[in-house]
Amino acid sequence: MSVINHDVIIVGAGLAGLRAAVEAAEYCDVAVISKLHPLRSHSGAAQGGICAALGNEEEDYPLWHAFDTVKGADYLGDQDAIEVMCNDAPRAIIEMEHFGVPFSRTKEGKIAQRPFGGHTRNFGEAPVRRACYAADRTGHVCLHTLYEQCIKRKVRFYSEYQVLDICETEGVVCGVVTYNIRTGEIDVFNSKAVMFATGGFGRAYKTTSNAHANTGDGLGIVMRHGIPLEDMEFVQFHPTGLYRLGILVTEGARGEGGVLRNASGERFMERYAPTVKDLAPRDMISRCMYQEVREGRGVGTAKDYISLDLTHLSLKQIETKLPEISTFAKIYLGVDPSKNPIPVQPTCHYAMGGIPTNVDGRVVTDEKNTVKIGFWAAGECACVSVHGANRLGTNSLLDLIVFGRRAGKDIVQFVRETKGKMPVQKDADKKVREKINNILSRTKGESVGKIRADLQQMMMDKVSVFRTEELLASACRDIKSLRERAKNAVVQDKGKEFNTDLLDAIELEFMIDYSQTIIEGAYHRKESRGAHAHEDYPKRDDANFMKHTLCLVDEGGHSEIKYKPVNMALAERNWEYREKFVAKERKY
Ligand code: FUM
Repeated sequence: MSVINHDVIIVGAGLAGLRAAVEAAEYCDVAVISKLHPLRSHSGAAQGGICAALGNEEEDYPLWHAFDTVKGADYLGDQDAIEVMCNDAPRAIIEMEHFGVPFSRTKEGKIAQRPFGGHTRNFGEAPVRRACYAADRTGHVCLHTLYEQCIKRKVRFYSEYQVLDICETEGVVCGVVTYNIRTGEIDVFNSKAVMFATGGFGRAYKTTSNAHANTGDGLGIVMRHGIPLEDMEFVQFHPTGLYRLGILVTEGARGEGGVLRNASGERFMERYAPTVKDLAPRDMISRCMYQEVREGRGVGTAKDYISLDLTHLSLKQIETKLPEISTFAKIYLGVDPSKNPIPVQPTCHYAMGGIPTNVDGRVVTDEKNTVKIGFWAAGECACVSVHGANRLGTNSLLDLIVFGRRAGKDIVQFVRETKGKMPVQKDADKKVREKINNILSRTKGESVGKIRADLQQMMMDKVSVFRTEELLASACRDIKSLRERAKNAVVQDKGKEFNTDLLDAIELEFMIDYSQTIIEGAYHRKESRGAHAHEDYPKRDDANFMKHTLCLVDEGGHSEIKYKPVNMALAERNWEYREKFVAKERKY
């Protein structure tokens, strides 16, 4: 076992982790640990854009952006955090441009912008061009650019290290315990500050746009340290995943003019959202697509998908603005989007919930927002709650760079203040070794793959776009039995090098833990809000549920649910726009 020291440990090498590393590395010795090579992080799969009210193509303001985000979030987003993000967005984009991001350009050479779902001008009047993009490879170019900036600042990377625990002494987080995927060695990293940027957990669902690595490991780890997860019941289904595969087809395709059609060729979103149509927010469009299919208007022999029609766009527009998704459609479905509509269906895409944090990325542990010293989180694994019950497209990449940077800045200040001190946990690796030995010692039981497949199918069938009391109660029973089955899961590979069988078993435990928080959060929320569409409680219930869920599940599967208030700073401020931010029925 090696013991490795750095001032700052960042776990996860997507945009949030790298942006924090760029910031902190100006002053501290920073290491980034990732179970992948950084350039394989899932941020690289983000396609359509990153939003900011730059006003390059038409009039726009951060205030309009904040209004759209609050409304899109179905009023569950924390308004202090939303204000911070929307105001900082233009600066953050220009900074990314200066770091080297090759954004697509307008004729005048400005950063080009296109419309995206739920982003509007003048408080909901019509769609606005707010998403900055680099064709449909925006995440890819941002990831490469920030990686270069990290190399320039001499950030130390530890790739193919799986983090299995955090070290803690006297309530202060002071490092992590890792499993070296190449060698099977367990190492301890000591640090003054730890930041989690471990990404999302779409892999808990059968149909997802998420990479195989998105198993939400960080969420499982923090719960073992008594930190509850926030608003986990809000899981976003992106309307346009490639039929049966779930691979993302960017909303940018609709931003460029693409439309959704049912079996009779009807542009059905005109019925559901007359103002913004195919650019309504994702929760609405996914529900409408399900509705069309349920009512027999789905496309295909099984009438189970919807058509995304780009055939009226010019070949040049498809080739220059949407090259990636055009290639995906051709390769995976044999469909040329310039000639035929792309078969699509909703796909699990994004977690609105996660590890609760404040606006500086500090992890908070309860309904009073008590800070966990030495611990930060940002990005999809975190819940600073800018997305509330439903995220708007392109607000995700923005969240990563705005709150990644803020966490990095706050970490620098913390490290400076704790000069010289480096708390260390004794026997930090003990629990991890016991866990691994336990898994490897099992000789009889089911395969990890079978249990994981059953979990993914169950989450898809019972906890996806539409939920009911009966389905959720049944999911509560299922997750208990999956937990029992996982205790006896057998791994065939008992070796040390690249033992992905063992890692699958460990990831499965994390998946079961946080899936339970999704199920329980959903079961206890007796209303419909954003991505949580409860058919037995079809209305939003602000009187009883305008609050964040905090759910903690222990090793034995016992759960505890608490709630904390939503920050309504913009609706409570004495100013001329107050009324715009007060909760009201969401219409588009
Ligand atoms: O549709 C997309 O390009 C996805 C963007 C996002 O999730 O923000």
